[in-house]
Amino acid sequence: MKDGRLFEAFVNRHDEDAWQRVLAELESHIHEVDRVATRIWFHFFPLSLAQALQEAEDPQALARELFLDGTYRLVDQIDSSHRFLYGHRYWPEVKRAVIEYAQSPRASQTLDLAGHVREVAAQVAERRRLEPSLVMGITAVAFMTLQQVGWEAFESTPGTIALDPRIAARTPEEVLAHRARDDRQGFFSWWKYPDKVWTITFDENDPEATFRLINRQHLTTAAAQDKRPHHLRDPRCVPNEGPIPVQCRSGSCGSCWVGVLGGAEKLSEMEDYERHRLREFGYLETDEPKPIIRLACQARAFGAVSIVIPPWNGIFGRFLRKWKQQRSMELTGTL
Ligand code: FES
Repeated sequence: MKDGRLFEAFVNRHDEDAWQRVLAELESHIHEVDRVATRIWFHFFPLSLAQALQEAEDPQALARELFLDGTYRLVDQIDSSHRFLYGHRYWPEVKRAVIEYAQSPRASQTLDLAGHVREVAAQVAERRRLEPSLVMGITAVAFMTLQQVGWEAFESTPGTIALDPRIAARTPEEVLAHRARDDRQGFFSWWKYPDKVWTITFDENDPEATFRLINRQHLTTAAAQDKRPHHLRDPRCVPNEGPIPVQCRSGSCGSCWVGVLGGAEKLSEMEDYERHRLREFGYLETDEPKPIIRLACQARAFGAVSIVIPPWNGIFGRFLRKWKQQRSMELTGTL
C-alpha cells in the first residue's frame, strides 16, 4: 500500500487505555510548556466518544442524545484543535512528517506507538533545530488526530496555523514565565477593590483574552463581567455572560468545563459534587483535589490562572461507560 492506511490501521489498534500508557511513557519527554496542555487536549478529544459516534447508525441522533453542543468532531478542526499547545506553531512540519513517516518502511518496523511518536518528533526537531521535547506533545496529538479522523481527512487539510507572528515568536521560557503569573496588587487597586484582583487568561495566544476576578470568585461569576460579544466567536456563549459558555451555573449542564493550563493549585479544591458531575458528564474521573479539568461554575480562584475553553460540551459519562463495557465483552467473546 503506497499511502499511510496500513499505518493508520496499526494506530487504530490502540484504545484509550493503550493511549494512556503511551502518554505516561511520553510524559517526561514532553517539554514543560506543553506537558499539561497535551493532557488537556487528550481530555478534550476522547477517543472512545469519537469511536462511539463513528460506529453509531445515526451519529447525529446519538449526538443529540448525548447533548453534544459545539464543535465536537475533530475532523472539523484538524489544523486548529491544538492551538493552545506551544507545539502548534510547528504543526505544518509535524503533520508533514507524520504523513511521510506513515508511508515509509520505518512505520512497519515496530509495534511501539510511543517509539513512533518519539521518532517523528526527533525528525521534526532535527529539521527545525529544536529540542525534541518541544514537538513531542504535538506529535502525539497528530497521531491521535490521524486515528480519529482517518488517513484521507488527515492528509487533506492544508496543515496551516493561525498565530500572530509576535505570539509565535515567544520562547517557551517566556510563555512559562507569563503563564498564570499573579498580578501585583497596587495601592490604588486595593482602594478600589478591598479584595485582591486576579487576571484569568482564557487564550494565551490572544493578549485580549483575559478577564478580572475578585479573590475567591467562581470563574463563571467573574467571566460574566466581561461584556464583549463572545457569542460571535463561540455560539454556545450567552450574550453578556462572558467567554465561558454557561447554562445553569449549578453543575447541572456541563457547558462550563475548562482545562487548566496554569495555576490549577490556585483554584479551590474540588468538592464531591463537582467530582461526581465531571464523571457524569464524561469529562474526567479522578481523585485529585485540584485536577486540570474543572467546572468553571464550581471552581473559585485565589490567584491568576490560565484556562482553555473547549469548543464543545455534552453529557456522555454513563453512555460511554456502558459502551466501553459492551465493547470489551465483544472483544473477549463474553457477549
Ligand atoms: S454552567 Fe452548567 S455545569 Fe457549570
